[in-house]
Amino acid sequence: MNASLPPSPLNDAQRQQIDALVRELNPQQLDWMQGYLAGYRAALQPGAAPVAPSAPDSPVLTVLYGSQTGNCETLAERLTELARAKGLNVECLSMDEFPNRLLKQTRQIAVIVSTHGEGDPPDTAMDLHEFVHGRRAPKLGELQYAVLALGDSSYEYFCKTGQDFDERFAALGAERLIDRVDCDVDYEEAANQWMERLLERVAQASPASVAQQTAPAVAAQTSAYDRKNPFSAPLLERINLTGRGSSKAVYHMELSLEDSGLTYAPGDSLGVYAQNDARLVEQLLEHTGLDPEQSVTIKDEAMPLTKALQHHLELTLLTPPTVKQWTELSGSAELKKITEDRRELIQWLYGRDLLDLLQNYPVAGLDAQTLVEHLRHLPPRLYSVSSSQTAVDEEVHLTVAAVRYEQRDRLREGVGSTWLADRVALDDTAPVFIDTNKNFRLPESGETPIIMIGPGTGIAPFRAFMQEREVLEQPGRNWLFFGDRNFRTDFLYQQEWLRWRKQGLLNRLDVAFSRDGADKVYVQHRIREAGADLWRWIEEGAHVYVCGDAKAMAPDVHEALIDVVSSQGHKSRESAEQYLRDMTRSKRYLRDVY
Ligand SMILES: Cc1cc2nc3c(=O)[nH]c(=O)nc-3n(C[C@H](O)[C@H](O)[C@H](O)COP(=O)(O)OP(=O)(O)OC[C@H]3O[C@@H](n4cnc5c(N)ncnc54)[C@H](O)[C@@H]3O)c2cc1C
Ligand SMILES: Cc1cc2nc3c(=O)[nH]c(=O)nc-3n(C[C@H](O)[C@H](O)[C@H](O)COP(=O)(O)O)c2cc1C
Repeated sequence: MNASLPPSPLNDAQRQQIDALVRELNPQQLDWMQGYLAGYRAALQPGAAPVAPSAPDSPVLTVLYGSQTGNCETLAERLTELARAKGLNVECLSMDEFPNRLLKQTRQIAVIVSTHGEGDPPDTAMDLHEFVHGRRAPKLGELQYAVLALGDSSYEYFCKTGQDFDERFAALGAERLIDRVDCDVDYEEAANQWMERLLERVAQASPASVAQQTAPAVAAQTSAYDRKNPFSAPLLERINLTGRGSSKAVYHMELSLEDSGLTYAPGDSLGVYAQNDARLVEQLLEHTGLDPEQSVTIKDEAMPLTKALQHHLELTLLTPPTVKQWTELSGSAELKKITEDRRELIQWLYGRDLLDLLQNYPVAGLDAQTLVEHLRHLPPRLYSVSSSQTAVDEEVHLTVAAVRYEQRDRLREGVGSTWLADRVALDDTAPVFIDTNKNFRLPESGETPIIMIGPGTGIAPFRAFMQEREVLEQPGRNWLFFGDRNFRTDFLYQQEWLRWRKQGLLNRLDVAFSRDGADKVYVQHRIREAGADLWRWIEEGAHVYVCGDAKAMAPDVHEALIDVVSSQGHKSRESAEQYLRDMTRSKRYLRDVY
């Protein structure tokens, strides 16, 4: 039990009974008990209606989350804990666990949802999103709701799904409890404020349901290290996976998680807090003429400008909010015109960085504090874990492609990938956390066949899948589609895949190297060629996984799968699309694309 609790008011017999019961409960049952007790306690308040013991079945607040890579899920869990600590009777569900028909009966909903693809809902939010936008959507005159939208302001459709839910609920007659908040990649602070406001508002709206806090809330089980408190993981190994003469540089990296208590499953990603290149910081300081030692304040912390630029601020890419604020600061008419059309702005931003902005749109008399206040905080970069913890124990492996490109006579480098590739020395540490992704998991049964489509660094989670299936001796069949530019230099983890193929663990391997022949061949071509077998595997229950590039690869692969389902399954295009949608719903078609 928690050693920090005050002395127990229970007698020995009561304690023994409770200990015996609690030991038998699984986490879900414990959650339910927590809600039950909160409801029961509320009913004992003077004037409370005597219905509380059944309260867990009729929650005051329903937290509904739609999450692809786990951020909204984590926030939803946090909101739920906070609500319970306030004695609120709350339930927390992924949108795909929530029966649409219950929407009409639900009284208070907190929606926490991200946006993916090109302004699309996460897979788990697809159904509810479609339902509320469809003709069968019920009137929601009895519903009160609030929306927290997660997104990334560098995308054209920033926080679109959250906006969709917010607008649609209002159009259906529901009442906003508090205004929607659209969060960018450093969402923690804004999300916490939104939660605080929401819980205050819910407590006002349904005071009878809130029990007074009589005992300290038992802290939920969390690891010592997380996104807010990253673990300093020593770099154990870095190997260049791409051969001499390759047009790319992709690295296999091994980090130690020893004594961190961090655990992960195949399909999760590792979040990494990187540092900007000191040479870029120097160029920026030189250009602005600002004093590197000048003190600036970021989130109430004072530090020298040079540290702020290297550790805390985004320099290698620009986002629409930054450019819009810069427009006002610089008073540039040219920049104003560029910001007027969001689509054009997004295109203009690609391949431009802060130094471009400073060089082309100077601000007279710019001071250090103004500069830092106009920049986005440097968010962590995510990398798919390419190892199975069952196989490598307290290590975590990554597969990192260094982002380097030449534009307007300057070599530019992505901050996260080149920090990992070039600037972290062996035995140095990287601040990391696990970004759990429950939407990209091996099938529950080790017997289920899987089809893995992972060109480029998309291969990473599939190495983890195979390690896991190897160690656990799972008999399910495995098929990999891999593609890259050249066979000789870019076949990532070639030895391992060939070994697994030889052992029979990998039942089929289809590769596509786009620059080896006269015609460009990609994984989607191999998918179409293998259509008959692929369809057989799918009909036999295989799960299909896609990982890697979101812009070109994932839509092309999706098209190829539609073709296969349609031609081999003798379906119209529409039914083939529906077939894949159903596979997504039943978690048999899973994508982790970026
Ligand atoms: C869930 C998830 C898993 C991921 N897994 C992996 C993984 O396993 N391996 C991996 O390598 N990456 C992975 N990524 C991508 C990774 O998180 C980073 O986005 C990637 O490393 C680039 O980040 P960076 O900091 O190096 O570049 P940034 O500093 O973010 O720079 C990127 C910017 O550079 C510009 N740019 C890049 N290339 C060009 C070009 N050719 N021409 C012009 N401009 C260009 C663009 O403006 C772009 O926005 C994953 C992402 C997600 C969300
Ligand atoms: C492939 C991909 C596409 C994305 N597309 C958008 C987008 O169109 N608009 C947006 O605001 N955010 C977009 N994002 C950012 C996510 O919404 C953001 O990372 C969010 O925190 C993810 O929350 P989740 O982990 O709960 O899914 C995208 C992220 C990825 C990886």
